[in-house]
Amino acid sequence: MPDQYAVIGNPVAHSKSPLIHAAFARQTGQDLVYGTLLAPKDAFAATVDAFRARGGRGLNVTLPFKGEACRYASVLSSRARAAQAANTLKFDGAAIFADNTDGAGLVNDLLHNLGFAIAGRRILLLGAGGAARGVIEPLLLLQPAQFMLANRTPDKAQQLAQSVHGAIEAGAYAALAGRQFDLVINATSASLAGELPPLPSGVFARGALAYDMMYDKGETPFLAFAREQGAALSADGLGMLVEQAAESFFIWRGVRPDSAAVLKLLRQI
Ligand code: ATR
Repeated sequence: MPDQYAVIGNPVAHSKSPLIHAAFARQTGQDLVYGTLLAPKDAFAATVDAFRARGGRGLNVTLPFKGEACRYASVLSSRARAAQAANTLKFDGAAIFADNTDGAGLVNDLLHNLGFAIAGRRILLLGAGGAARGVIEPLLLLQPAQFMLANRTPDKAQQLAQSVHGAIEAGAYAALAGRQFDLVINATSASLAGELPPLPSGVFARGALAYDMMYDKGETPFLAFAREQGAALSADGLGMLVEQAAESFFIWRGVRPDSAAVLKLLRQI
């Protein structure tokens, strides 16, 4: 029987992860199956226990269970510990290893798929929830010139800024007036609700990249705003999704898939 993997979440039916991992497995000749696992909101641990009892080898974890996945594990990677959230679980006998590949996924998409260098650039990150927390330290390691975190509830941004290693500024959207950034990343859930974070005009520097971690068939409100504001470049979160999956696949199987080829495939669907 092939090794079993799945993405666990609630909701999870819409996930593109099964498609992505099936393509990776085909590419690399790995014998595995990858499905979706819907967990009741109050029964994450019981659902994972049952999956392991059936011989499951690993899980990707999506909303709203990334924090709980971290607490479920017996061993945490430094990336999962820093984010206090895990999107990847690997089962090896009684050991449960948790990692967080979201930051690596974003960084690989920026550097390799989009060819956008981070070193020396001014970064603005919008949002202070789990999505933002997972990417701050991997971005800081690339030595941007400035790192600003803005959130609707500024206290949450300040708390998050104090909890990370490295110097970052934090504040409200109003504090962005008159400032410019080379990379603006939307890590809020505003796009999900068809909303736009209250950005002042003029935040995009010349040549700036607007990056929305969400992806949608159409343009997200954030990317539409960026275009109207004259941002030179834009990207949605599909590349990050494929890259975080590639990193998880590597953790489970020890083989690196050709993520760019799979991203190209998904763009055509
Ligand atoms: P996640 O863990 O997925 O990031 P979360 O913890 O609920 O989810 O965080 C959602 C983020 O999106 C928060 O930063 C939230 O801002 P608040 O902390 O002020 O709630 C932000 N957010 C959601 N809707 C928004 C909107 N319409 N405008 C601006 N920010 C929004």
